[in-house]
Amino acid sequence: MRIAIVGAGYVGLVTAACLAHLGHRVTCLDIDAARVARLRIGDLPVHEPGLDELVAEGLSNGHLDFAGEYAAIAGSDLAIVCVGTLDPAEEWDGEVVRATVRDLAHDPRLPRWIVIRSTLLPGTARSIAAETRAIDGSVRIAHNPEFTREASAVADFLAPDRIVIGIDAPAADAGGDSLAMALRDAYAPLDAPMVVTDLTSAETIKVASNVFLAAKVTFANEIARLAAATGADAQAVVDGMGLDTRIGRSFLSPGPGFGGSCFPSQARALPLLARRHGVQTPLMDAIWPSNVSQADWLIDGLERAAGRPVAGMRVALLGLTFKAGTDDLRESPAIRLGQALQARGADVAAYDPLALAAGLAMLDAAASEGAEGAEGAEGAEGAEGEAAACRGADAVVIATEWPQFRYLDWAAIAPTMRGRIVVDGRAVVDAPAATAAGLRVIALGVEAAGAALRAVG
Ligand code: UGA
Repeated sequence: MRIAIVGAGYVGLVTAACLAHLGHRVTCLDIDAARVARLRIGDLPVHEPGLDELVAEGLSNGHLDFAGEYAAIAGSDLAIVCVGTLDPAEEWDGEVVRATVRDLAHDPRLPRWIVIRSTLLPGTARSIAAETRAIDGSVRIAHNPEFTREASAVADFLAPDRIVIGIDAPAADAGGDSLAMALRDAYAPLDAPMVVTDLTSAETIKVASNVFLAAKVTFANEIARLAAATGADAQAVVDGMGLDTRIGRSFLSPGPGFGGSCFPSQARALPLLARRHGVQTPLMDAIWPSNVSQADWLIDGLERAAGRPVAGMRVALLGLTFKAGTDDLRESPAIRLGQALQARGADVAAYDPLALAAGLAMLDAAASEGAEGAEGAEGAEGAEGEAAACRGADAVVIATEWPQFRYLDWAAIAPTMRGRIVVDGRAVVDAPAATAAGLRVIALGVEAAGAALRAVG
């Protein structure tokens, strides 16, 4: 099949490279000429495990190419739109997607089957379809949301739990639709269960799945707070809950709160959409405020353990990205933690293996702009490694679950520190090794060895 991908961002590149890998002939289009030039020589603008290899494979076997002009995708069977979803004001009106679909619809040489892969708030695709029909009645719109996670997007794409196809027809008619059949063919090598439905249901499956997972993480975070207060072991609790196959263990790991480009914006947008429809969603309304309060809860635990406020403390912040394996800092809980520490008057020395410079710039910008929570704060200091960040620190805060943080040489680090406290926000610290080195590990509100501080939360 000849497939055009519009937008060579994160989602577009993964989709293009993986569809080329499945044997399709893929042209990936982007308006950024410099980006296209780099991509043509296999130079990727995003960090994603396995993606470089697939792009190189597609470029060398001729299944994948990159272009800057719409003319390059004339004759493709379908166009998959993967452009950005959010405008800077986070309006979620799908305007960028809408404009792209409009451009495609206006040119009859371009594919008449237009598949939107960008995330849309429920109801958006239907209105785009109506607008497009008015431009050219032969254009058909589908919505095919993606469920890949950053840092494992290639693996997720190639082994999906399900493929969702929304069609601009009533759900009952969607199954036998020619556009739905073409998409089934495109994904046939993946052999995954398919849900074929109407546009709004497909949009809702996507956003509701993300917000549900965000709620699950938030529930685990609140259980960790309760466990710290009652003396239960939060890890044992989530492990025990997760063994119930109706609950499942995934997305039940407590931490500093969720971040990234998807969960936060959608956890805020879905309840707002409900309100616009006059629908009450008290459960969904609570997710985001609870999530942002997790950073303060972790710092409260640090202050209780230290027996003093963090003001004037030097705190080593290890990890800045929103999770391990990515250089993405968007809405990172580690940055929220850094800003909250700065706002309470701590001096932050930060380290991240992939995104230190950009992360520091975010902490500095928040401080200088007096961003909410960071008013009057100093900028953060960057360290060239974990040991350098910890040198002279009164406390260490682990904010991202980088695998190397599991193997830190606490025996070497501890003597260089001024204080004794390690706040493990990601349950990655080797607590026996750290305590043997004379440190006190506060893992999600609970001191690891010794019962003295079991009720710090
Ligand atoms: C998320 C979804 O998982 C994907 O299915 C979806 O396709 C994607 O959004 C999207 O809409 O594009 P992603 O943003 O890459 O993927 O990140 P996740 O791996 O889902 O993690 C989100 C946040 O939750 C991270 O900050 C992570 O550290 C946190 N998290 C996750 C926890 O705190 N605990 C957990 O148990 C799991």
